[in-house]
Amino acid sequence: MPTHATDEVLVRVRAVAVNPVDWVIQGTSRITYRWLRTPAVLGSDVAGEVVAVGAAVKRLRVGQHVFGLATGTDRGRDALREGAFQQYTTLLERLAAPTPDTLADEEAAVFPLALSTAACALFQPGQLGLRMPGDPAPPGPAGVVVVWGGSTSVGMNAVQLACAAGYDVVTTASAKNAHTVLGLGASAVVDHRSPSAVDELVAAIAGRPVVGAVALGAGSTDASIDVLSRTGGTRLAMASTPVSLDTLAGRRRLFPAMIPVFTRIGLGTLRSTLRARRRGIRAAFVWGSSLRDDDMGARLWGEVVPRALAEGALRAAPAPVVVGEGLGAIQGALDRQRAGVSAQKLVVRL
Ligand SMILES: NC(=O)c1ccc[n+]([C@@H]2O[C@H](COP(=O)([O-])OP(=O)(O)OC[C@H]3O[C@@H](n4cnc5c(N)ncnc54)[C@H](OP(=O)(O)O)[C@@H]3O)[C@@H](O)[C@H]2O)c1
Repeated sequence: MPTHATDEVLVRVRAVAVNPVDWVIQGTSRITYRWLRTPAVLGSDVAGEVVAVGAAVKRLRVGQHVFGLATGTDRGRDALREGAFQQYTTLLERLAAPTPDTLADEEAAVFPLALSTAACALFQPGQLGLRMPGDPAPPGPAGVVVVWGGSTSVGMNAVQLACAAGYDVVTTASAKNAHTVLGLGASAVVDHRSPSAVDELVAAIAGRPVVGAVALGAGSTDASIDVLSRTGGTRLAMASTPVSLDTLAGRRRLFPAMIPVFTRIGLGTLRSTLRARRRGIRAAFVWGSSLRDDDMGARLWGEVVPRALAEGALRAAPAPVVVGEGLGAIQGALDRQRAGVSAQKLVVRL
C-alpha cells in the first residue's frame, strides 16, 4: 500500500489506460529511462476512487471518483508508489480532477497522459504558448492551429483543447476517422497518408494566420515544418520521435539492434530541428508530464478540465476499448497497443 504525501491522494485504481510510452519504457528503459530502478510500476493513466487525502489537499475528498496523471516513471519520482498499474496508487492533487457522474472510470482513464501532453504542446510558453480555454481572447481572428495526427490520443485532446480555447483547428486522420475528428471540433481533416496532405492542409488554412503546429506520429515533424513554412507559422511542438521504437521494444536484447534505431532518431531529430530553424520555425520537443511542475498543469487539472467537461467542450476520446480485467490483463493491452491501434484507447479494469 503506497503512502501518500501531503499534496497527494491515495486512490483505489478502477481503470487504467495504456500508452506507447509504457511499452517503450518496458522494452528500452535501460537506454531511454536510465534513471528508472527495477522493480518499477509503469503506467500514467489512472481513474478510481479516493480512499485517503493528504493534509494539504483541498479540491478532492475521500469517496470521490477521480482521474489523474501518474508520473512515477519520471526522473526524481517514485516508480513504486506513483505508478498507475497497481491496485492502489498515489496521485498529486494538482494533476487530478473529479470524475463527473456522466463519465465511467473506463472513460475517464483515457484522458491523463494524452490530455496533459496536448496541453503541454499547446499552452506551455516554450511550446506554442497559446492562451488556455477561459483566457480572455484579444479582438480579431484567433488563428489556426495545425494538429498533424488528429486521430491519435494526444491529437484528439489537442483538437478539443485548441477549439475550446477559441482557435480554428486543421488536422489529419485516416479517412475512416475523419468524421470522429471533425466531431471533436476540427474544421478540416486531411488523410496523413495522402501524398498531397501538406498541400491540402495549406489549402484548408486558406491564408489565415497560423499560430503553430503540433506534430504527432512518424513523419509528422517534417510534414508540419512544410505546412508552417508555407503558411507563415513559426512554432512547432514535436511529440514523437522520427522513428517508432515499436520493433526495438519487443526484443529481449537491445544490442546491437538499438544502434541503427537510435542513430536514426538522433540524426533525424537534429536534421528536422535545423531544417525548422532555417525556415524561421522554433521547434521544441514536448514532454507530456512536464506540466507537473508548472502553473499550467495545476490550472489545466484544477480549472480547465472540470469546466470543459461540465460544458461538454471536452469528451473522452479516443473511445475506450476495455480489453480485460485485473492486473494480469495489462501485458496483453501493452502488446496490443504496440501492434497498433486506430482511434482507440485500450483500457483495463481493475
Ligand atoms: N512526448 C510525449 O510526452 C508524448 C506523450 C504521449 C504520446 N507521445 C507520442 O505521441 C504520439 C501519439 O501518441 P498516442 O498515444 O496519442 O498514439 P495512439 O493513440 O496510439 O495513436 C494511434 C493513431 O496514430 C495515428 N497515426 C499513425 N501513424 C501516423 C502518422 N504517421 N501521422 C499521424 N498519425 C498517425 C493513427 O491514425 P489513423 O488510424 O487515423 O491512421 C492511429 O489512430 C506517439 O508517437 C507517442 O509516442 C509523446
